Order: sequence, then C-alpha cells, then structure tokens
Amino acid sequence: MKRVLFVAAAAALLVTGRAGPVFPDVSKLPSNPDPPDPLTMVDGQRVTSREQWFQRRRPELKALFQHYMYGWFPPPVQVQGVVTYTDARFFEGQATLKLVTLKLAAAGAPETHLLMVIPNHRASPAPVFLGMNFSGNHTLVTDTHVPLPTSWMPRPEPSAADHHALEAGRGTQIHVWELEQTIRRGYAVATYYCGDVEPDTTNAAGGVRETIRRPSASDDWGTIAAWAWGLQRAVDYLVTDSDIDNKHIALVGHSRLGKAAILAGAFDDRVALVIPLQAGCGGTAPSRGTVGESVQRINISFPHWFCGEFKKFNTQPDLLPFDQHCLMALCAPRSILLGAAVEDIWANPAGAFDMLKAADKVYRFLGADGLAAQTMPETNRLVDSNLGFFIRPGKHSMTKQDWQFFLDFADKQWGKPRTE
Ligand code: GCU
Repeated sequence: MKRVLFVAAAAALLVTGRAGPVFPDVSKLPSNPDPPDPLTMVDGQRVTSREQWFQRRRPELKALFQHYMYGWFPPPVQVQGVVTYTDARFFEGQATLKLVTLKLAAAGAPETHLLMVIPNHRASPAPVFLGMNFSGNHTLVTDTHVPLPTSWMPRPEPSAADHHALEAGRGTQIHVWELEQTIRRGYAVATYYCGDVEPDTTNAAGGVRETIRRPSASDDWGTIAAWAWGLQRAVDYLVTDSDIDNKHIALVGHSRLGKAAILAGAFDDRVALVIPLQAGCGGTAPSRGTVGESVQRINISFPHWFCGEFKKFNTQPDLLPFDQHCLMALCAPRSILLGAAVEDIWANPAGAFDMLKAADKVYRFLGADGLAAQTMPETNRLVDSNLGFFIRPGKHSMTKQDWQFFLDFADKQWGKPRTE
C-alpha cells in the first residue's frame, strides 16, 4: 500500500507544471554590466514596501534563479527519518552519536544517511550545523558503526576505488569537520555524503534527479539544485527531532557544497544561518566577476551543475537579470557568514565580499542588521554582524580554524548554547 502511494507521489512530480511565470529568451534580456538592483522588479518597478519584497520581488527572484541558473526546484516530498543506531557515550561521553536514514516518499528516490553528533551536557535542545560532506560519513569518525556510503564516489584512493567507498577512508577527514570541537562548544552537527542525494557526475545514475525530473526542459534542475533540495529535506527531518533546537539551524558547505548551502538557505526560511565557505562562482562570487572562475569555465567543467539556460550566459553574464547578491538578499533578514582564504583566488574572495555588501541594501530596507564593514577585513578578523565575513591565510579547504569562526559567529548571533 505504502509503495502504491509512493508511486503516485512520484508520478505527480513528473507532471507538475512549470514554476511560476514565463521569462524571456536570453537573447531578449537587456545588458546589465553592473549587478542588477535587488530592489527593482524585472518590469522596472521599484520595491517600496516590505510586503512588496516578500510577496512579489522575493518570489520573482526565486523564479528567476530557477529558470536561468540552477533549474527547477521540485515541490517537497514527505520525509521519514528512521534512527538506525545511537551511542550516548560518544567522544568519551561528551556526545551522542545518532545515525538516521532519511526515506523520501517518491518511488526510486535514494536514501540519505545522516550522521548526527549531539552534545550531552546541554540544558535544552542543541543548535545544529547541517552540511553535506564530500567523501562519506565514515571519513569523519573512527567509529566502525558508521557505515560506508553505498552510492557513487568520485574520490580516488585511499577513500574510494572503482567508484565505491573503501574502509581505508575511515577517519581521514576528521581534521576537516573537527566534530569534537563543535561538541565542546555546545552545538550539534548533522551531515551526510552529498552523493547520497545526487552523484557529482555528468552521467548521473542513482540520484534524486533520476526519479524527480522534467525531462528535456532547458530549466530542469542541475546537481547544485538537487543538493540544495536534499538539504531542505534534511531540514524537514531536523525540525522534528527533539534533540535539535529547530530555531537555530545553520547550513554549512564548502565550495561546490557551499553553492548548494547558500541556494538552500535562500529558498528556506527555516534556516537561521547560512555559511557558504569559499563557494566561488555559482555560489557567492559574482557571475559578472573577472577574477577566478567564470560562468563559461564552470559550465564547461561541470555541465551538470546548472540548468541548460545558464549555458546561454557563458560569454554574456551581463545579461543575467540578477547576480549572487540577490541570492544572499533572499536570505534576509536571516544571518549569513561568508568565509574565504587568501590563496583561494579561484573563488574570488573580494568579489564575494562585494556581493555581500550589495545584499546589505535589502537587509537595511527590511529594517534588519546587515554588514558592519565597508571594506574587506584584514586576515583572521571576523566581522560578526548579521551579514558576516572573514578571510584567513591559506588555501581552498575547510579547517579547524574555519570552524572556530563558524562557532564564534553562531555564539555572537544566537548566544552561547546553554550547558548543564
Ligand atoms: C572546482 C570548481 C569550483 C568548486 C570547487 C570545489 O575548483 O571550479 O567551482 O567550488 O571545485 O568544489 O572544490
């Protein structure tokens, strides 16, 4: 019976109508060498009230991003979370390890395997950082109860061979996630392997896009949208988990997974804080940027990440009716922290700062706090206003130091978690 219901849900998704309005062909769009004003509608009307922003401009921007860049976002489907394992003595009794399988009510949709670590010494439900990982939950811990992913793996030895995860990868990414540090600061972490939702490859097989799709539409969803949608389904589960403070959910993601994090956060009001780390082109850096990766470069290297329409902007990003500051503005009045690294020019740190500065306008318009810095801060200084920023020395990577900035920022915005 359950199976029949699931099949019905999937069939409905395949025939769901187009999202919102019909937008002009790219060749008809006006050139805009500067980032378009987030407070002006495509028809030229100025946004003059809060209501206009939330009821007209925000939905318009969401539709524009879907149509011209990331592709269609399917409506949500029901999620069932099944706890498969718990250990209340994790990290020498400091935390509880909880493994949860998320099952989507759509026939053939892949399962997501969530690894949660939750601090034990807390006076109330824990605020949480939710993010995807690149190489499997088992690479974040040494505990052998955490299973290897069964989905497609891109990473070479020692983590994977022949596109299958290997036991040899266990514990190899502990320094990237630094789970114990986050636990000590009173926050929970929930993470899963991105390939559980959608494999990072052009000839995708076994991902959510195989099941839920609009075949041959030039704005059918790409991998970044699929990952973002998957994050939202994980949020669906987290808001029902009594260990978690559902008012304090932060989305975190590094690089391509940071592109998915900012997209998911922009489209989802339940997310209180978004932390896209070094997300670069297609995430937090301007599409009109002249530093680092270009729209053309990203579309050639990763044709599966964005929708077909986005390729039409390869040599003419000035035609885009938005830039990435508009994606950040969709998060308003909620918090954003951008993280950058000095040597990571490919991700265009200065361009990302400019985008944050341009999003500030919408925050102020809505009466919210924005960015308390006019110029990019010196290295290692955290700008901890509602729109936050830091740049640290070093290369493109996620490190213990990045997590310290995330934790300091969350403490500032939310107050330190209460411990017992
Ligand atoms: C490549 C790609 C970037 C991406 C990065 C990553 O460098 O060009 O757009 O952010 O990989 O995900 O690590």
